[in-house]
Amino acid sequence: MKDIAAVSSQDTLEEVRVRYIGRKGSIAELFKQMGKIDPSIRGEFGKTLNMLKNDATAQIEAMARELEQAETLAGYDPTLPARPIAQGSYHPITLIEREVKRIFTRMGFAIKRGPEVEDVWHNFDALNTPDWHPSRDETDTLYLADIPNMLLRTETSPVQIRTMQAQKPPIRIVAPGRVFRNDKPDPTHSPMFTQLEGLYVDKGVTFADLKGTVLQFYRHLLGKNVVTRFRPHFFPFTEPSAEVDVSCPFCGGDGCRVCKHSGWIEVGGSGMVDPNVLETVGIDPEIYTGWAFGLGIERMTMLLYGVDDIRLFYENDIRFLSQFGGRR
Ligand code: DAH
Repeated sequence: MKDIAAVSSQDTLEEVRVRYIGRKGSIAELFKQMGKIDPSIRGEFGKTLNMLKNDATAQIEAMARELEQAETLAGYDPTLPARPIAQGSYHPITLIEREVKRIFTRMGFAIKRGPEVEDVWHNFDALNTPDWHPSRDETDTLYLADIPNMLLRTETSPVQIRTMQAQKPPIRIVAPGRVFRNDKPDPTHSPMFTQLEGLYVDKGVTFADLKGTVLQFYRHLLGKNVVTRFRPHFFPFTEPSAEVDVSCPFCGGDGCRVCKHSGWIEVGGSGMVDPNVLETVGIDPEIYTGWAFGLGIERMTMLLYGVDDIRLFYENDIRFLSQFGGRR
């Protein structure tokens, strides 16, 4: 049928349908002639007409399907770029933790992990923490309700104990991980946060090694001009002990809002491993000495990215978290 090949829209197809197979169409007209046909060939004539009608109907239906498909494809442009696929990003704490591990691995430290659910012995006793020490109180420490002497570790220091029990010096490890405290969240406190424990035990290890290692680490992390400062302090597991400050990377130590105009930012604690601790794990303090530190990973991350509220890390607001994607 020539007419049908020329059809280009549903409307013209409808015209063709009416013209041929409509109630008053040309095929219907031919059926009306049946009575005038010689009876000897009338049957044959009728059969042929029916075939013609079926064929015309089939062609029109096929064309209707073709037009419908063409309409669907009309809005499709294969040269358009694909829609972007939303991609996840690493959590900022994960990014900094990885960077920190890279720096210490390059300095020859092994990476260790310990359990987040700890026992009182590893978290306090073995770390030379006296029975009366306030950090053991339930107001500070989260104990398991149903299992006596078990707690959520309050620091990564128990990994020191586990490492020294498992291997002999020389020991040179860092242990990143989560710690838990019974603290109300505020801009600088979170009941869960992340620490980096460091431990170096060998013959002849000195406080100078501690200062040099911590300084080099912060220069790698924050920039080659930062300096560190060690202030005398007390920790049960080190003697002597010191708190560690870094010069403010924002003002270079001149004083600004971030460092509260002091020029320094407190980043953690450190010291020479107490001989009592070495004895507890079977290392002879007459032969070996060691140093240790515990640094806050959130603090490093806040400094590097200019984040001013620790709670942002744990509220899981995708608008905040998605900003850190590919930086490191
Ligand atoms: N565990 C201490 C804390 O959470 C930090 C610390 C201080 C770790 C001195 C150490 C250290 O290894 O030597 O406050």
